[in-house]
Amino acid sequence: MSKSTKYVSNPADENGIVSWTEEENKIWQDLIERQLEVIKGRACDEFMHGLELLDLPHNRVPQLHEINQVLGEHTGWQVEQVPSLINFDAFFTLLANKKFPVATFIRSRDDFDYLQEPDIFHEIFGHCPLLTNPAFAHFTHTYGKLGLAASKEDRAYLARLYWFTVEFGLLNTAEGTRIYGGGILSSPGETVYALESDNVIRQTMNPLEALRTPYRIDIMQPVYFTLNRFEQLFELADMDIMALVNTAKKLGLHAPKFAPKNQLAS
Ligand SMILES: [Fe+2]
Repeated sequence: MSKSTKYVSNPADENGIVSWTEEENKIWQDLIERQLEVIKGRACDEFMHGLELLDLPHNRVPQLHEINQVLGEHTGWQVEQVPSLINFDAFFTLLANKKFPVATFIRSRDDFDYLQEPDIFHEIFGHCPLLTNPAFAHFTHTYGKLGLAASKEDRAYLARLYWFTVEFGLLNTAEGTRIYGGGILSSPGETVYALESDNVIRQTMNPLEALRTPYRIDIMQPVYFTLNRFEQLFELADMDIMALVNTAKKLGLHAPKFAPKNQLAS
C-alpha cells in the first residue's frame, strides 16, 4: 500500500469478469510456471495442498469467481476486487469480513522479478492457497478484526506481526525449513534467499519480538520468524494480541537490521 503507483486495476464487467490482454495472460503464465518450479521443496505442504485445491490455470489470469468457489468451500473466505491502492480502513474492513482484497492488475515485464505493489499474481498465487487452510484463515480473519478496531499507532505494530507471518513467515518441518509467507512465495529471488542465504536471521516465532521488529518493504528481509507447527497460527490468533501490542509499545522497537533507506546507494 504505497502512496503512488503506475498500476491501475482492470475493471470487471457486470458479471465480475475481468478482461485480460494476451500479453497480461502471457505474463501470468510465465510467472506461474517459473514460480511453480522455484517453490518445489521450498513451500510448506499446507501451501502446496492449497495450490492443488485452487488448481490455478497456467495460460491465463484466473477470474475471481473461480477462486471464490474454492475458498468458499473450504474456509468461507472470498476475494474481492479492489483498485490498485486501498486505505487501511478499507483493508481491515475487508479482512474482518473474510474478504481478501485483490487488485486486478498484473506487473509489467519491466517489473517481472520484483515490484512493491501487490499485483494479482502476489495476491492469488502468494496468499490464496493458504486461505483454504483453517489455521491461516482464522489468523487472517482475527488480524482483520483487531486491525479494524485498532488505533493508527497500534496498527503499525499489528502490521509487523502480519508481515512476519502472512507475508514472510517460515515453518520448521521434519524435512527442514519451509516457506508459508506469500510475500516470499510470489518472489522467485526471495524464495531461494529466505531459505539459503547465510546473511539472514531466522528466529523462532515469538509474537512480542515480531511486533517489535522493524521491516522495510523494498529489500530482501534480513530477519524471518519461523513457526514450529502450522497450527501455531491458531494459537497466535487466540492470544491477547492487543496486550502484546501494549507491551511492545512500552518496550519499544528493536534496532533495525538494515540501513535507513536514504543511506543506501540507489
Ligand atoms: Fe501480500
